[in-house]
Amino acid sequence: MHNAAFRHLGLDCVYVPFKVSSRSLRDAVRGLRLLGVKGFNVTVPHKVEIVKHLQKIDPITRAIGAVNTVLNDSGTLVGYNTDATGAIEALKSNGVSPGDSKFTILGAGGAASAIIFSVAEASPRVTVLNRTLEKAEKLKRKIKRQLQVDIWTKRLTRRNLVESLRTCDVLVNATSVGMEGNPSGLPIRRADLERRLTVFDIVYGRSETELLRKARSAGCKTISGVEMLLHQGAAAFEIWTGRKAPVEVMRRALAEATARGVRGNAGC
Ligand code: ATR
Repeated sequence: MHNAAFRHLGLDCVYVPFKVSSRSLRDAVRGLRLLGVKGFNVTVPHKVEIVKHLQKIDPITRAIGAVNTVLNDSGTLVGYNTDATGAIEALKSNGVSPGDSKFTILGAGGAASAIIFSVAEASPRVTVLNRTLEKAEKLKRKIKRQLQVDIWTKRLTRRNLVESLRTCDVLVNATSVGMEGNPSGLPIRRADLERRLTVFDIVYGRSETELLRKARSAGCKTISGVEMLLHQGAAAFEIWTGRKAPVEVMRRALAEATARGVRGNAGC
């Protein structure tokens, strides 16, 4: 989708995917900096490890502790996390105002962390449910060190989820359930989802996730992970180029790539 955006704006840039092993990360980053590459995205499993190879990290990204976008500012590598911006933009462009919405967020890993940081700043109530409660509590302590907010944490069980859904407006799945190799397993039934809820699943792929299928058939508003991918890509584009991202051009390129089965940023 980045190449479609570069072409659309007549920019002489090209976006290329590289596979880098953990062992080669340091050399790869050094090489990109020395070659004068303007910027790059970083994805799993390097989002946390990359931090130590960068010269500057934007403050909210430092708090999140994971980088997915790097700008090469005349030899100074600056790290950003556009997952957070991507999630907020995906919500707003689907009519959800985080400041007026209570959230139930599933997960406490890297992706969940970026979303919880960005949502917690605005929302009147955020409840985090995770399979491993200790991880959710650790994340809560980390967030509370940075932001003056309160967050409720619970173990991810059907009973806790149903209870939390009763008083929230938006359910976000930020676990890896729904991804290839981890297709199902969230403790939720269609009947648990009232139609007044918005359900946002950050997982994306060729077909709709089981959670979004249930939510749609229950009459809820649904937001797919493709929306987040689009907006995090647009935010990265703006960091690298200083130009407003042509979001609709990127949306079309992403839809084509998703239909072809291309995963993530690579090749879009
Ligand atoms: P990412 O960077 O994509 O967020 P991660 O950091 O490995 O990946 O986090 C994965 C998240 O999905 C975690 O919250 C994980 O729960 P645990 O902390 O208990 O491991 C959650 N997850 C993965 N598989 C799950 C499953 N089958 N049921 C519930 N939660 C699951």
